[in-house]
Amino acid sequence: MTPELSDLESLTRQAGEILRAGYGRRHQIDHKSSIDIVTEVDRQSEAFLLGEIRRSFPTHRILAEESGSQAGDECCIWHVDPLDGTVNYAHDVPFFSISIAFQMEGELRLGVVYDPLRDECFSAERGKGAWLNGTPIRVSGVQDLLHSLLVTGFPYDIRENPVNNLDNYARLSLLTQGVRRMGSAALDLAYVACGRFEGYWELRLNPWDVAAGGLIAQEAGATVTDMHGKPDFISKPQSILAASPSIHPLVLVELKK
Ligand code: IPD
Ligand code: CA
Ligand code: CA
Repeated sequence: MTPELSDLESLTRQAGEILRAGYGRRHQIDHKSSIDIVTEVDRQSEAFLLGEIRRSFPTHRILAEESGSQAGDECCIWHVDPLDGTVNYAHDVPFFSISIAFQMEGELRLGVVYDPLRDECFSAERGKGAWLNGTPIRVSGVQDLLHSLLVTGFPYDIRENPVNNLDNYARLSLLTQGVRRMGSAALDLAYVACGRFEGYWELRLNPWDVAAGGLIAQEAGATVTDMHGKPDFISKPQSILAASPSIHPLVLVELKK
C-alpha cells in the first residue's frame, strides 16, 4: 500500500496544530551541539507523525530528524522533518514548517511543506505539478541576478568548519537584489517554487530538510541539483541549489568560484 498526496497534507496539517499550540510558550530546550537545538515540540510533532505513518504503512522505512532511521522496506522511504526552523520557533520568530516526503524505488514521488502560522500548504506529486493550497504554482520569470532575491542558510558547524558558506553569501549579496537567511530550508525551497525567491542554496543539509521542498520546486519548474550541478540532492554528502532555469546556471558559476 502506498500513500496519496492527501495523506501527507493531512499529516502535516495535524502536526501543524501541535506546532501552533506550542508556539509562543516557554520551551524545554536541549542542545544537540552549541547552536543546534531541539524543543519538546519537535519531539511531540515527530512522535505524532511517526505513529501515524507506522500505523498506516507499517512496512515502510522512515528517516526522521529526531529518531533517525526506522527500519523498513527500502523501496518505500518517508523523509520527515517534524519542525523545520527550530531556532526560529524557540525564539518566537514566525517562520517554520513541517516537511514530509515519500520516496518510492529511489524516486521522490510526493512532498508537502506546511507553514502552520500562515496556513500555507505547499505540495507536489512527481509528474503532476506543484500547488499552494491547491492552486498551481510556478517559479519566477526573472532573468538576471541583479533583479533576483535569493535565500540561503548556514550549517550548525559554522564555527568549526571553514567551509561554511560565508564566502558564497558575501559574493552573491553583491550581485543580487539581496540574499535572505530565513531559517527553514523546506520553506526556502517552497518559496522558490512559488516565485517569491529566484533561488536557494545551502550545504550540509539532511534528506528530511530538502526532500519535500526539492520535489515541490522541481514540479514548479525549478532546476534542482547539488551545489556542483549534479542531479542527486538527497544523498550525502549533501548540498542543494534550487533556482528558476534562468537563474540556476548564474548562481552555479558563482558557487564554483
Ligand atoms: C535547519 C533549517 C535551517 C537550515 C539548517 C537546518 P532544523 O533545520 O532548515 O534553515 O539552515 O541547516 O538544519 O534544525 O530547524 O530542522
Ligand atoms: Ca530541518
Ligand atoms: Ca527539524
